Amino acid sequence: MMDKKVRALFEPFTINKLELKNRLFMPAMGVPTVEDNGAYTNEAIAFYATRAKGGVGLIITGANEVKSLDENKTVCTDPAPWFNPDAYICAGQEMTRQIHDQDSKIFVQLAAGLDKLNKDARAAQIKHCQAMTTAEVRLLVESFAYSAKIVKAAGYDGVEIQSGELLDGFTLALFNQRKDCYGGDLRNRFRIVMDIITAIKKGCGSDFPVILRLAMKSYLKAEGQQALPGEAFAEQGRDLEEALAAAVMLEAAGCDGFDVAAGISLFEKASYWKYPPVYFDKGVYLDLSEALKKAVPVPVLAAGKMDDPELSAEALEKGQLDAVGLGRPLLADPDLPQKLINGQAEEIRPCLGCNDGCLANKIAGGESSCTVNPACNRELLSEIEAAKTPQKVVVVGGGPAGMEAARVSALRGHQVTLFEKSYGLGGKLKYSSQRILKTADRRLILWYQTQLENLKVEIRLDEPATPEQIAALNPEIVFIAQGSDARKLTFPGMDSEKVTNAIDVLTDKTFVGPRCPAIGGGLAGCEAALHLAMHRHKMIIVDSAPDILSVGIPLAPANKQMLKDLLVFYRSEIITNATLKAVTDAGAVIEKNGQEQLLPAHHVMIAVGFEPVPSLYGELKNNYGQVYNIGDSQAIRNIRAAITAANEVACQI
Ligand SMILES: Cc1cc2nc3c(=O)[nH]c(=O)nc-3n(C[C@H](O)[C@H](O)[C@H](O)COP(=O)(O)O)c2cc1C
Ligand code: SF4
Repeated sequence: MMDKKVRALFEPFTINKLELKNRLFMPAMGVPTVEDNGAYTNEAIAFYATRAKGGVGLIITGANEVKSLDENKTVCTDPAPWFNPDAYICAGQEMTRQIHDQDSKIFVQLAAGLDKLNKDARAAQIKHCQAMTTAEVRLLVESFAYSAKIVKAAGYDGVEIQSGELLDGFTLALFNQRKDCYGGDLRNRFRIVMDIITAIKKGCGSDFPVILRLAMKSYLKAEGQQALPGEAFAEQGRDLEEALAAAVMLEAAGCDGFDVAAGISLFEKASYWKYPPVYFDKGVYLDLSEALKKAVPVPVLAAGKMDDPELSAEALEKGQLDAVGLGRPLLADPDLPQKLINGQAEEIRPCLGCNDGCLANKIAGGESSCTVNPACNRELLSEIEAAKTPQKVVVVGGGPAGMEAARVSALRGHQVTLFEKSYGLGGKLKYSSQRILKTADRRLILWYQTQLENLKVEIRLDEPATPEQIAALNPEIVFIAQGSDARKLTFPGMDSEKVTNAIDVLTDKTFVGPRCPAIGGGLAGCEAALHLAMHRHKMIIVDSAPDILSVGIPLAPANKQMLKDLLVFYRSEIITNATLKAVTDAGAVIEKNGQEQLLPAHHVMIAVGFEPVPSLYGELKNNYGQVYNIGDSQAIRNIRAAITAANEVACQI
């Protein structure tokens, strides 16, 4: 039964005259795939239909392109209603039918200038806005109206205009140097958006809902540099006051609702307000939506780490917004709304805020998916099927790979025993989850624990599996997921009591003194250093590479930039191209440019990555029908790689 604390999330409401069954929506997520002709693929239809089936009231598609900046375009990489309207409508009709069958509604997000993705192209976009003639601007306006008509013909329930991307070049005083009626004061800069609303209403009728995605504040403190939450700075982009004045004008022009965003999309580096990483608190845009609610009479929607259902319901009750957006939370768990309805909040698989599976993987040339939900954006491929013959499975190691292998094996009907040598499940996750900043990791461990218990997996904690123990169970299938340990360095003074490592610091095994340089500027070193810096330690990070966070598996740009900014904010000093030579009674001796330097220290934290622990794989690989070496035990990678590989193998056993 639904907890009454979250009941407010399931009240109906309307946008224009469109009735929505609840207050939960999926904001635009440019995740699903398209055909070369710009029409949605069957996989994309399944992606959205899965979310509708999970109970969300309104879905807003990822950005659809209304016009290309490339005159000779032959292949679409984003959905594009204008490119081949017949194909787009055909796929759209199938998609909208499936969504409507679930009593959900779906809007299409329309955007200009999606041909982008590198910084130069974005700079070119800004120039493009300035170079357009007034007649070309009017053609761009018409292209929004043309696409909206196609979208309506496909059965979609409304559109959302993305006022960022190319339109930032008009609306932001920082960029707009136009001298015609589309440049100058606030009204002129937003004239293009008002014209688009008017043109869509003219083409599709006044009842056809048109909402606007508006970044209410840019959080731009200098070119390419964002301000951190709570940081005092002079806004160089759009400030809240200006956004509120614009919203009042846009509502008067016919806008039926606003979908709050923040940040600025024209600088790749400055993206952490758009894709809020793990380091943000929940409810990232709530203060902005609350201000907007007071300024306009139409519905105000807002996403931004709203996956704390009680906080979200409370925000609705307090009138801080009208609908709660769940972008990444619905990638991690499409059934989130239905689980709340069923009173099964503890069953919700949490989003980690890693931006790895959904963004970084796409930036690296792969398809968007989700670190914790490998079935995301592969809904047609990744059904977990019951095994033909249930077998005995042993999993050695309770980290992400081991937990996922155990979960999927048990879901498929196998009888699973999991050995974990330490006191609890989680592997390295349980150390990262000790950090004040990473409660999401802790939630993921709890989620796995609940799943494994429900699936009757036998979990043996504090038991390092021996070959004899495994043999006693007589399994057909063995997963070796023994994980990794902190890599050790060899240097004079390595046995000193001063020397510690990131895991011992994070688990409070070592209470370090105020001066504790970190040797190693990878993710573990930087996050452990941030943890200490936030606890008033004077941090110095020493990295042998030319920059921190630059070696190993690339982080999502938003996460990397925010972590770097946080380290600077908490006054950490970063010394690059330097190596540790020794640890003495006085501190750490490092070498940079051939010169030795002493960093006075109470402790020295070594964080130079991880290496696989000696595993049972070699010994056992020929002993049983199927033996798999998965996760860090096979090769050091990240959580996404560990969970995805474990899932794929366990789906096939
Ligand atoms: C993979 C990914 C794709 C996104 N695509 C879009 C998009 O096409 N248009 C847009 O306005 N915002 C886009 N966003 C931003 C989201 O709509 C949303 O504002 C953001 O993820 C914060 O909400 P959340 O914490 O619920 O995920 C995207 C975000 C992610 C992570
Ligand atoms: S990849 Fe990470 S940030 Fe993206 S939805 Fe999944 S858990 Fe959340």
